[in-house]
Amino acid sequence: MQVNGYEMAYEDRGKGLPVLFIHGYPLNRELWQPQVDGLSGSGRILALDLRGHGDSQAVKGPYSMDHLASDCIALLNALEIRKPIVVCGLSMGGYIALALYRNYPERLGGLILAATRANADSPEGKANRDAAASLAKEKGVEAVVESMLHKMMSPKTYQQKPELVQRAKKIMEHTSLEGVLGDLMGMKERPDSRPTLGTIDIPTLVIHGADDQIISAEETRQMHSQIQGAVLATVPEAGHLLNLEQPEIFNQAVKRFIQPLLY
Ligand code: MLT
Repeated sequence: MQVNGYEMAYEDRGKGLPVLFIHGYPLNRELWQPQVDGLSGSGRILALDLRGHGDSQAVKGPYSMDHLASDCIALLNALEIRKPIVVCGLSMGGYIALALYRNYPERLGGLILAATRANADSPEGKANRDAAASLAKEKGVEAVVESMLHKMMSPKTYQQKPELVQRAKKIMEHTSLEGVLGDLMGMKERPDSRPTLGTIDIPTLVIHGADDQIISAEETRQMHSQIQGAVLATVPEAGHLLNLEQPEIFNQAVKRFIQPLLY
């Protein structure tokens, strides 16, 4: 699909309430295969490759969260989806989901914030973005993937499920250099979304892995406490990629959440 001047790849399966899944960094829509397979009987499951990721065209960054949110809206417009949808964003996908809520609240009827945070980057976090960008430019995307792979899953998954680790690695490596750099610079400059949390007045599910090594339980707890009426779900034996590590538990939580919203 041509959106905002570039080719976007996406998956569209099932009928009824659209649920848009937005992947994190440096991932693509393949992350959501267990959700496309497991949830498309319950709703219309949409999963896109953000610019520079997976099969979408690589364009030069930085990719601001607002830009990426506008790409999501462009896809919905192209598909003529005007009714409010549910958005599920994982990690950077959650930063985008919060930008979507800020910029297009009328398009959202529910929000799933998975393994994500509302805070902007700390000075240390910003320095880490620069270091990762230098590594990407000097040694390539594979080197960046190698440096972060062990943190993407729970230590137990990493040790005991080598096939899943290889699958995650393959997904991550299917990111262009422009995509990695665009994300890093966009995330580095993203705004603090904490002021948005108190304005959220749609059903919200905050879901995280008990063993997430990237987003702490405390950050999750704080974010959840600031969203009126939000449901909190903790997925056991899962890290940052909780939906891949524990697809059944994740899908059950999403099903329970979207059930009252279905049309
Ligand atoms: C992600 O999974 O999207 C990233 O870990 C988020 C981040 O680096 O802030």
